Amino acid sequence: MRIAICKTNSEAAALGAAEILTALRRKPDLVLGLATGSTPVGIYQILIRAHRNEGLDFSRVRTFNLDEYLGLGATHPQSYRAFMNRHLFDELNIPPEQRHFPPTEGDRLEEKCVRFEEAIRAAGGIDIQLLGIGRNGHIGFNEPTSSLHSRTRVKTLTPKTLRDNARFYSDGERPPQTAVTMGIGTILDARRIVLQAFGPPKADAIHAAVEGPLSSFWPGSALQLHPDVLFLLDEEAASRLSMREYYRQAWANEEEMRKAGVL
Ligand code: F6R
Repeated sequence: MRIAICKTNSEAAALGAAEILTALRRKPDLVLGLATGSTPVGIYQILIRAHRNEGLDFSRVRTFNLDEYLGLGATHPQSYRAFMNRHLFDELNIPPEQRHFPPTEGDRLEEKCVRFEEAIRAAGGIDIQLLGIGRNGHIGFNEPTSSLHSRTRVKTLTPKTLRDNARFYSDGERPPQTAVTMGIGTILDARRIVLQAFGPPKADAIHAAVEGPLSSFWPGSALQLHPDVLFLLDEEAASRLSMREYYRQAWANEEEMRKAGVL
């Protein structure tokens, strides 16, 4: 587990984007696991700038989004498909057939979820999975008590998540109560995971994910099982970490070793 405690969100976004840009230059058909929400937007803006200003080619990139609401059409402005179009896809040259979302249309969703997992495997697995984290520790929409081995499936959102999402819906509009999400097992299959978290509301979830016991009650803690996770935090999200000074020192040492070519 690597932990960078950043002065600003933009510094964290720059580090997260650098992970993707470096990987893309090495592997033009990179497979990305993508998140929605406010947290990853800074990274997406940097990717768009790299495409626009440096002509970086995304035409062979394949993407798999973490989650999507059930019951919102793809064109609903609050659907995650619409979010991804607005914040990333409309500005990059990733062909539409290379962008994948968990299945939410029609019936036999369980079978379609199995096919979504197969599509990830057929693409060679996810190279880099971007994550945010909910105040209750959810990753994707794996709410507390999700199995640590779960795969893509339908989940009912908790009252806390519904309250957090209510701000995106107009009065009288009923926000979706269910979603289809990659499972924790699906997320842990990614080769590298980059999780960003900003602001005081995320401090408990980050404390539980990094220093808490492994527990399905705090789904982020499952990341302790993964060999290559990078946490990009601001001071506030990191404020409950008891070993903050150690993490800062470890990060500084690693930077120095990278510069010296030791790593
Ligand atoms: C979104 C997702 C969620 C969010 C989390 C944090 O695709 O999977 O787990 O990452 O709810 O949301 P923000 O970034 O809006 O604080």
